[in-house]
Amino acid sequence: MELLIPNIGFGTTSTDQERYGQVATAVNVAIDMGYRYFETSKMYGNEIEIGLAFAKKMEEKVVKRNDLIIANKFWCTYDDSTIIENSCRQSLEKLKLNYFDIFFLHIPSRCIFKGEEQLFPLYSEPSNEMRDIDYVKAWKTLEHLVEIGLTRTIGVANCTENQLQRVLNEATTPPKIVYIECCPGLHQKKLITYCKRQNILVSAYCPLNRPDFQAFAESYNNHIGILEICQKYKKTSSQLILRYLYQLGTIPIPKSITPSRMGQYINIFDFELTDKEMNLIDSFYIDERSIDLEQGLNQQFPLKRKKIPISSKCKF
Ligand SMILES: NC(=O)c1ccc[n+]([C@@H]2O[C@H](COP(=O)([O-])OP(=O)(O)OC[C@H]3O[C@@H](n4cnc5c(N)ncnc54)[C@H](OP(=O)(O)O)[C@@H]3O)[C@@H](O)[C@H]2O)c1
Repeated sequence: MELLIPNIGFGTTSTDQERYGQVATAVNVAIDMGYRYFETSKMYGNEIEIGLAFAKKMEEKVVKRNDLIIANKFWCTYDDSTIIENSCRQSLEKLKLNYFDIFFLHIPSRCIFKGEEQLFPLYSEPSNEMRDIDYVKAWKTLEHLVEIGLTRTIGVANCTENQLQRVLNEATTPPKIVYIECCPGLHQKKLITYCKRQNILVSAYCPLNRPDFQAFAESYNNHIGILEICQKYKKTSSQLILRYLYQLGTIPIPKSITPSRMGQYINIFDFELTDKEMNLIDSFYIDERSIDLEQGLNQQFPLKRKKIPISSKCKF
C-alpha cells in the first residue's frame, strides 16, 4: 500500500524549558486538531511519553494506527547493523508501535559508537570521533528493516545532493523522503528541485527558523510587506512561512506546545501566495543553518556552515 504523507507534520522535540508530559499533551491536542504525521526520535528523550499519547488517542478511537504516519531516526554513532536494528526496535517499544512509517538515517556520516551515554562526538577531537565508514552501508541496513517489516519506508535526513546521489546509486530501495532544515533563511531550493526530479519528497524541519533567532524574527515579523500579506489573507507571519514552504514543495514539520499556534499551523491550505509574495519571502534568505552540524563535517558530509551572527545557537 502506498505511503501517503500529509502536507503538514508535527515535530516532537522537547526544549529545555518544557516539563515532562508537555510535548505528549501537545501530541494529543495535535491529533485532535487533525495532525497525522509525527516526527519522533530517541534523541529527543521523550519517546515513552509520546508513545503514551499515541496509545491514548488509539484507545479513544480518535485514530487507528494506520491513520498516522510516524517517523523515527537512528543516530550517527550507530554504525553497526545490529545496533541500528536494535535502535529501531527499542524506539518502537518505547513508542508502543509495531512499525514505523518512515525510518531515517539521521546524518549521513558515521561517528564512533561509545555507548548510549555518549551520543555526541567530541568537537575537540574530531579526527578521533569521525569514522571513515560509508553511510551507504547503513542504508543497506535500513533496506533490511523494510524487508523485515519494522518500517514501511526509509529516508535520509540532513543530506546534500551528492550524499543523496550516492545512496541512490547503491540503493535497492530508494529513499522515499528527505528531511532537511528548511525555512526562508535557508530555503534549499536547489536540493528541493533535485529531490523532485528523483521523485523524493522533502520534509522541512525547523520551518519557523526557531523564533528564538531574534535577528530573523524581528526583521521578518516587522517587515511592512509581510504585515500587508498577513492582513490580506488574515493569516499570521508563521502561517505565511509554512504556506511558503508548502508552495516550494516541502512538507513542513513545525513544533509547538501552544494550542493557538498549533491551530494556526495546520490552517494554511485555504490561501495561495502569489509569485511576488513568494519572492518577498525569498528575500529573507541568508543561507545559514540553525542546527549545528559541524560534527558531521567530514569527507562524506560536506555541508558548509557559515558563521551565525546571533548569539543563540540551537543544540543538535
Ligand atoms: N532531523 C533533524 O535533524 C531535526 C533537527 C531539528 C528539529 N527536527 C524536527 O523539526 C521539528 C520542528 O523544529 P523546531 O522545533 O526546531 O522549530 P520550529 O518549528 O521552527 O519552531 C518551534 C519553536 O518555536 C517556538 N515559537 C513559535 N512561534 C513562536 C512565537 N511567536 N513566540 C515564541 N516562540 C515561538 C515554539 O514554541 P511553542 O511551543 O510555545 O509554540 C517552538 O518551541 C522538531 O520538533 C523536530 O521534530 C529535526
